[in-house]
Amino acid sequence: MSEENSSAVQSFDGFIQVCSKKKNRRGQKNLQARSADFSSAYATRELSADSGYVNIKPFLRRYAETECDLRLSTFFTDATEKIFPFLEQAQIEAIVCLGLGRLSECAISRHQLAFIRCLQEKINFKGEIQFYDPIFNRDEVKILQDLEGIVLTENLEGKYLADRKTLFYLPHCPKQISNNLLWKNWQLDLLSNIILISNSFESILTNSPRRFLDANAKFILEIAKYCVEIRFPVNYKYTDIFNDISLHCFDIAALKGVHSDFWKSVEPHYNVDTLELITREIQQNLKVTNDDIHS
Ligand SMILES: C[S@@+](CC[C@H](N)C(=O)[O-])C[C@H]1O[C@@H](n2cnc3c(N)ncnc32)[C@H](O)[C@@H]1O
Repeated sequence: MSEENSSAVQSFDGFIQVCSKKKNRRGQKNLQARSADFSSAYATRELSADSGYVNIKPFLRRYAETECDLRLSTFFTDATEKIFPFLEQAQIEAIVCLGLGRLSECAISRHQLAFIRCLQEKINFKGEIQFYDPIFNRDEVKILQDLEGIVLTENLEGKYLADRKTLFYLPHCPKQISNNLLWKNWQLDLLSNIILISNSFESILTNSPRRFLDANAKFILEIAKYCVEIRFPVNYKYTDIFNDISLHCFDIAALKGVHSDFWKSVEPHYNVDTLELITREIQQNLKVTNDDIHS
């Protein structure tokens, strides 16, 4: 390896690591390819959104019907019957909704939005729901604001601090976001503040190989033994909206008895090839790509 292509750094354990610039360039290339994957999926929609593609008023009319249907559905009655006791006991002080997706175009996202708003009403939560998804366009932000939501602007990659009783609603979100959320709150008092509605942890653990879980869902794996999971009913009229969704909360009494080693935690970093969530870095590249398309 030529000197030009390598540089040496000393690591904490005293070993000299040789970093190849070639290798770094390859890593950079992977990241760009990953951004391009996300970009090709979303760029055309961004373009149409920027040119005023979505009509907000007709959307809100359609949305009102969705909300009405959902509120009256047996599914909603059954789901709230199962999860209400947990929410009531927790006395929720904040609701954070991540990864709703393109609600102006996607019926799944529209129904998922209706669910969290109906639930807000059901539990008599008076505050605003906070929303974040890096792919929201301007019209979707406006729609959520018209519905009295707060649209967050910073991509925290799921690393939200639960400093008060918070219902996190992550319908069909990348498991790495749940994993990051757990990492950020990896201590007893913070975990006790979390109620999480997301893809079933049980399914994640059953359906993924151990090696994959170690790299991408370490904290989900660790907490599984102390997790109370309530499966959503499967009787909604559309089967791909709330499938595989569960409410999760944590057995704080049992967690009080764990060994102190359990609480040692290292911030997760994911291999670019298995990334599911949109990181800040990818989002930055996406912006660049979209700016290129616009110019
Ligand atoms: C599989 S889609 C689910 C969309 C929708 N909820 C559904 O069920 O069809 C995953 C969603 O997570 C969002 N997402 C990715 N990275 C995110 C991040 N860092 N923070 C919040 N949401 C993120 C994506 O933009 C996408 O909308």
